[in-house]
Amino acid sequence: MSPVIDYLRISLIDRCNFRCQYCMPEGEDLQYALQQDVLTNDELMTLLTQVFIPAGFTRFRLTGGEPLLRPGVVDLVGAIASLPDTQDLALTTNAFLLADLAEDLYQAGLRRVNISLDSLTPEIFDQIIGNRGRSRWQQVWDGILAAHRVGFSPLKLNVVVIPGLNDHEVLDLAALSIDRDWHVRFIEFMPIGNGDLFQHRGWVASEELRQRIRDRWGLTDGAVRGNGPADIFQIPGAKGTLGFISQMSECFCDRCNRMRLSADGWLRPCLLNETGQLDLRTALREGVPLAHLRDQVQALVDYKPEINYKQRESGTTGRYSRTMSQIGG
Ligand code: GTP
Ligand code: 5AD
Ligand code: SF4
Repeated sequence: MSPVIDYLRISLIDRCNFRCQYCMPEGEDLQYALQQDVLTNDELMTLLTQVFIPAGFTRFRLTGGEPLLRPGVVDLVGAIASLPDTQDLALTTNAFLLADLAEDLYQAGLRRVNISLDSLTPEIFDQIIGNRGRSRWQQVWDGILAAHRVGFSPLKLNVVVIPGLNDHEVLDLAALSIDRDWHVRFIEFMPIGNGDLFQHRGWVASEELRQRIRDRWGLTDGAVRGNGPADIFQIPGAKGTLGFISQMSECFCDRCNRMRLSADGWLRPCLLNETGQLDLRTALREGVPLAHLRDQVQALVDYKPEINYKQRESGTTGRYSRTMSQIGG
């Protein structure tokens, strides 16, 4: 059965204060959206209330680049959280700015965050995020602790596993789920806009990681609230869970329930291909009636199972040129 398409990932900005090797490779000139092309808060709220919610979207995730760099992000969170039709609102962040913003975001109505944390070793962490200055690890860790203190739940930590860079830390990272109600997710490294890094390093299959974890502690099925593609397990007796996002080893396109809205207002039905993209910003600014946009988005929602099927047929392991930061992760 086709999944219900009700999950919209909204990129608030395509810039980032990190330059993770797997997401925004060094030495490549990234094309950022022009400031005047980024949807304003009013435009975004108009699209949500008049187009997306009527077309059936009720679960929203704010992404980037780094969404906390967006001016007025707390007000925007407040506006989206207070819409009566919002059933879930979450945010994916690198947590560098989270320690200062966690309390305000919670007060504004945000209840859950997913945080990237690829290493517990400051030197390796800095290498992965492309930082050559003073280490940024501690400030990120403080952001995670602040999110925990403020009460975000479930609190998820995203680890992209890259052979030879951080794969030796998998057990240490998994152990974070034992004593605290933290949900650690291991993501198979994807060849999206990261040049030679993928060719050079390759990727590790989730099942291999699960076997290492099984050998150390055992592993049972688990459950945690979420809208994404993670398969959930648990170390027996742990407070949190372990998630595995396995787009390389097992295509999950046929259960894809989401679309993506870029910071400059393009609606993208699939992370991996450009089929059916809609330029909602231009249409909105040219005064195309909202009812017409709603019909177009609804038609795309209806067509999405076909896109899922085609993507599944062509596979998820090819090389893709746009970076994750441009598409919104
Ligand atoms: P939950 O609601 O907490 O389950 O969130 P989520 O897992 O959807 O959100 P998050 O931003 O943490 O996404 C984690 C990672 O999953 C992304 O960064 C991608 O690597 C991967 N991912 C999410 N959606 C897709 C998708 O449609 N296709 C592929 N190939 N990967 C995806
Ligand atoms: N492969 C897998 N996941 C990626 N992310 C970014 N680039 C990649 C990639 N090439 C994920 C990171 C981060 C989220 C925003 O996107 O996990 O948490
Ligand atoms: Fe920034 Fe996230 Fe991409 Fe890292 S993965 S460069 S933190 S958008």
